[in-house]
Amino acid sequence: MSRRADKASGGGGQADEMVVPRSVAVIMDGNGRWAKRAGLERIRGHERGIDAVRTTVTECARLGVEALVLYAFSEENWQRPRREIDLLFKLLTRFLVDERGTLMDNDVRLLHSGRRARIAPDVLRLLDETIALTAGNGGMRLSLAISYGGRQELVDAFRQLAGRVARGELQPEAIDEQAIHDALYQPSLPDPDILIRTAGEQRISNFLLWQVSYSELHVADVCWPEFGKEQLHAAFRDYGRRVRKFGKVL
Ligand code: FPP
Repeated sequence: MSRRADKASGGGGQADEMVVPRSVAVIMDGNGRWAKRAGLERIRGHERGIDAVRTTVTECARLGVEALVLYAFSEENWQRPRREIDLLFKLLTRFLVDERGTLMDNDVRLLHSGRRARIAPDVLRLLDETIALTAGNGGMRLSLAISYGGRQELVDAFRQLAGRVARGELQPEAIDEQAIHDALYQPSLPDPDILIRTAGEQRISNFLLWQVSYSELHVADVCWPEFGKEQLHAAFRDYGRRVRKFGKVL
């Protein structure tokens, strides 16, 4: 195992070498399909998805990943049936309480990426409490993308910058890539080195649109409830084979 994540060049790793990325983002897809195949209600797939979340968080932390962003609930997910939304948020709130020990034991600092406006106050309270509880942890940062959309994040960032221009705090010429990055929800997080998506779908689905410019994409065929250490290691081995040129000539 080695780390080659922030090298601008590469050359490809050994065929089976696992390279631990500095920053990982995951689109956790296929909970519903997994449940349907097992003859269960969709929500059972989300429930089983929590186990995959716990495994991924602890294994990424153990391997030394610095930042992990999990797409837990998109802006578009608000269009799902009310019952599924309510059950998803019940699971999220349970996670925010039950997994505090896991986060503390693994020195993980919790963050949130997304809009707060539509999230119920009791969920926000638990989210904020867990964020505060883990604020002193110096290990991996875990951002849960809840009520998150990549386009909405950019809209919010541009509004924030426009407000600063209107108040005379910022010159339009000073708006550069760094200024936009600094106006994102979690500017302290490095851009993902790898974006993992499960259930075989090859789409970005409005996730981290600004940040994934140079992320390596890894699509796992298994549904999210089936994603475990083995699949995570396979993703990191795949990452180890990538040659990252960032538009340059090696
Ligand atoms: C996509 O599967 C998954 C989601 C919309 C929600 C992901 C949520 C979890 C894994 C559980 C809670 C998360 C945390 C961080 C505690 P889908 O329902 O779109 O599956 P389908 O495409 O097969 O229908």
